[in-house]
Amino acid sequence: MVIKIKNICCIGAGYVGGPTMAVFASKCPDLVVNVVDINEKRISDWNDKDLSNLPVYEPGLSYLIEKCRNKNLFFSNDVKNCIAKADMIFISVNTPTKKTGFGSGQALDLRWIEECSREIAKYSAGSTIVVEKSTLPVKTASKIKEILNSSLKDRSLEEKLNTEKEFFILSNPEFLAEGSAINDLENPDRVLIGGENKEAVDALSKIYLNWVPSKKILKTNIWSSELSKLVSNAFLAQRVSSINATSAICEKTGADIKEVSLAIGLDRRIGGKFLNSGPGFGGSCFKKDILSLVYLSNFYGLSHVANYWEQVIKLNEWQQSRITQQILESLFGTISGKKLAILGFAFKANTNDTRESPAINICKYLIEEGSILNIYDPKVKKSQIQKDLNFEKFEHTHNILEAVQDVDGIVILTDWEEFKSLNYCELYNSMRKPSWLFDCRGVINKKLAIEAGFKVWVVGNGT
Ligand code: UDX
Ligand code: ADP
Repeated sequence: MVIKIKNICCIGAGYVGGPTMAVFASKCPDLVVNVVDINEKRISDWNDKDLSNLPVYEPGLSYLIEKCRNKNLFFSNDVKNCIAKADMIFISVNTPTKKTGFGSGQALDLRWIEECSREIAKYSAGSTIVVEKSTLPVKTASKIKEILNSSLKDRSLEEKLNTEKEFFILSNPEFLAEGSAINDLENPDRVLIGGENKEAVDALSKIYLNWVPSKKILKTNIWSSELSKLVSNAFLAQRVSSINATSAICEKTGADIKEVSLAIGLDRRIGGKFLNSGPGFGGSCFKKDILSLVYLSNFYGLSHVANYWEQVIKLNEWQQSRITQQILESLFGTISGKKLAILGFAFKANTNDTRESPAINICKYLIEEGSILNIYDPKVKKSQIQKDLNFEKFEHTHNILEAVQDVDGIVILTDWEEFKSLNYCELYNSMRKPSWLFDCRGVINKKLAIEAGFKVWVVGNGT
């Protein structure tokens, strides 16, 4: 049997759902793609005529939205009808780490997954393929299946006769990285589809075959697919912690982290990517997925495995605190009443996302020490920074020059392109003396900065 998919619905119009469905709609003009969300403001932002107001900033995204929106891509709050019409439903809702109760601080909070599984159970009609897109703990598919199938048992005979319902569950984890999401979706390294039902797997695979070569589509069992997503992120995060641990040794010994990264990355078994030292990894996935892996390992009594992965997070937290201490020590051991310019608040360049951004902890530490912060980020809104800093006082500035007026030091926290070619003399002349430049991303031209008069500290290279 070949299942033909004409109408898809994505529940959750966030950083994953929005860009993923924009690419689906653009690559498959014959598909109708509905993206739904319970958040009305989010949907009205996705429908805003002014594309600079889209809720997610991603290079190339606004072009796709302009091309497909209201043609075969629709954003709405009409969860019920969009579910009812769909042959295939993607679950793309948030799955944060639990804050309270059993497993808090490690396990994922699945309340949004459960809620939308119940909505699918209630409103869907006919055969429906349900695809997990959100990062989920291993074995979540079986919980979704249980919720969906229990709804079948609850129905009256009349309902059963009127609408034949059946569900197929697939896992199709998202591997897009923010800032390069559109390119990652259009040219993926691989597409992973886990599932038991061959027809359902083939139906999803057929959609991807519109633009992804078949050799890149990997079909696995559902648990392998779920676990692979967690482990991929854990491996990537582990590389970042490994290089950040090395950056601390470099600063003590006089080795240069850039030279070390290049030297080790040229080994083909290691490879050159994900070897940039910085203020630690952020983003919605790495920490959450490792914590989920730690929880899973402990659940199965594998404490050695749990401790191993936990160390990746501990090192990440240490990197943030040691950077703050470095700033404090450089400024004569006190920053109380001193002004600092923070360049970059997003967790990485080319995104407006600040979830788990190292800038949050670092700014909180600096504010706690009494510093007055001028924060500049090209894409993050003031209201977002206010929320992230628990409404502590700071100055929100609109460009680099405004941020550096009369400050004692500049702290670069995000690798935005515009921070790679600073006008050092102009900045130096606007600051209090001695003027410090703390480059936590290794993006500046150290020689030029020193020539301009700066005292400089670069992560993995020192002063
Ligand atoms: C990650 C995974 O890459 C992606 O496959 C998954 O689907 C979601 O999680 P993302 O968090 O968007 O993507 O960005 P990524 O490029 O992986 O960066 C994560 C963090 O690591 C950022 O804070 C980044 O600045 C940091 N990082 C990355 C480094 O500090 N050094 C590096 O060399 C690479
Ligand atoms: P991600 O980075 O995984 O995309 P986001 O938090 O950016 O996460 O987006 C998840 C979206 O899912 C949010 O906009 C949220 O309002 C939406 N959402 C959560 N639960 C439901 C639900 N039951 N029905 C519809 N949308 C939901």
